[in-house]
Amino acid sequence: MTSPVDPTTTPAWAALGELRDRLSVDFRSWFDSDPARAKNYTFRAGDLIVDLSKNYLTPEIHGALVGLAEQVDLAGRRDAMFGGAKINTTENRSVLHTALRAPAGAQLVVDGVDVVAQVHEVLDRAGAFAERIRSGEWTGVTGKPISTVINIGIGGSDLGPVMVYEALKPYKSDTIECRFISNIDPTDMFEKTRDVDPETVLFIIASKTFTTLETMTNARMAKNWLINSLEHSGTIDGSSAQRARAIARHFVAVSTNLEKVAEFGIDTDNAFGFWDWVGGRYSVDSSVGLADLVAVGPQNWADFLAGFHEIDEHFRTTPIDHNVPALMGLLNVLYVNFYGAQSHAVLPYSQYLHRFPAYLQQLTMESNGKSTRWDSSAVDTQTGEVFWGEPGTNGQHAFYQLLHQGTRVIPADFIGFANPAHPLREGGQDVHALFMSNYFAQTKALAFGKTADEVRAEGTPEEIVPARVFSGNRPTTSILAPTLSPKVLGELIALYEHITFTEGAVWGINSFDQWGVELGKKLALQIAPALGGDEQALDAQDTSTRLLIENYTSLRAD
Ligand code: F6P
Repeated sequence: MTSPVDPTTTPAWAALGELRDRLSVDFRSWFDSDPARAKNYTFRAGDLIVDLSKNYLTPEIHGALVGLAEQVDLAGRRDAMFGGAKINTTENRSVLHTALRAPAGAQLVVDGVDVVAQVHEVLDRAGAFAERIRSGEWTGVTGKPISTVINIGIGGSDLGPVMVYEALKPYKSDTIECRFISNIDPTDMFEKTRDVDPETVLFIIASKTFTTLETMTNARMAKNWLINSLEHSGTIDGSSAQRARAIARHFVAVSTNLEKVAEFGIDTDNAFGFWDWVGGRYSVDSSVGLADLVAVGPQNWADFLAGFHEIDEHFRTTPIDHNVPALMGLLNVLYVNFYGAQSHAVLPYSQYLHRFPAYLQQLTMESNGKSTRWDSSAVDTQTGEVFWGEPGTNGQHAFYQLLHQGTRVIPADFIGFANPAHPLREGGQDVHALFMSNYFAQTKALAFGKTADEVRAEGTPEEIVPARVFSGNRPTTSILAPTLSPKVLGELIALYEHITFTEGAVWGINSFDQWGVELGKKLALQIAPALGGDEQALDAQDTSTRLLIENYTSLRAD
């Protein structure tokens, strides 16, 4: 295993520190003195036009960031990932989500197997299955077509599928509704099944491992709910043959663990595999997205994958100085390590992208929330910002106050689209244009602010002038695309995957394991008996946890 370069020891790191100390950020003068600034720092990746000009970029900083990429060998690590090297060192796995969207006919042989051929075999099967559901050829146990698809999964087996379903609603079939059950809170199961017709429902059990507590508990509950409902209405009798037939018609699985799928009682003919080289949070474009594939159909799905692939190719082949994901990742490093940024806002100006920030939270934070590097040495830099956000304009009326006048640097990405899915008008006005005026206004206000003199010139009483000043110089990136199509959505997801990769590569961390989620899972299993009255399990707890459980028990109504 080669050790990562410690970024803090590189000449570029020293140069960035020196530039931070020497240059005071002043967007007004930077734009005034360089009329080409906006143009020079606007880049293209696929259909995405990405304006980086309102970032802390000068030719010197740009050069130092590119130098940093070279000195930590970002390109080498990127090529290792694309080539199938086992860069996920703690799990000894390749990291090949990029193979999920490689075009048919491309070849990538890893451990003697052409993974692209494997991908397309499953993709074709999943596409054919989706068509059978969509056409009504696949029916439930009583012969009725499927009208509700319920995906049961959590983390990467849920956040991606939900986000994509919401984002691509204008492209979905009118006859099929998808729902998503993730939480082990039983209310999630209750609410999502309460009005569902068991004769027309299809459950997709999505779990890479097929062992996740939440998913397997919910899957068993769904199985019981289905059988009980069908038996209660007299649709099936209680014979094991009828039960098995009902499960075969109403349950399919998505997993890397086909043995466990069979154990659960799902026919492996109705299971769609993927591979250990796909991380959960990088899996929405594998069969984990089956619910979405059913909803939008194979052609839209092919466009979605083509969008990913276009950005993969951009990241793989574009020199770093105008490589959009690489530059965005490097800028994030700059803000975290040189300007003390602790969080990063993602603000889509599209209501259809309302789950995109939540999706990015797992992608970025499960990937880069690490304190050790890929050779297990300790990091000596900050890593992993908190990603968060909400669609504009709603966020403007909630948390933007802190973005504009708060004390911290919070870099923000604004994502907007030229063409709306629904071009509605009000009072003769194009409502989308009004909406997008806000997208442009916010980055302008954040960058250029408002001086005390400008506030005074408006006749503001002197005593409240300071409260009405906007410092400006708050960094933003504006991402603009023609429309939120399946292809553009694929491009956006791949963009953030590679931004995340770039940050991880600079910090020298393995962005592809997630050991930090294990401890809590194990402790929950040890604590569960204590909630069921097991005195020994209760006594084994620390005093704080024990008292909390005792208080919980005393509050229980049963
Ligand atoms: O708990 C974290 C995690 O392992 C995620 O990385 C993963 O996406 C999620 O759980 C679900 O895992 P699975 O798909 O195996 O059920």
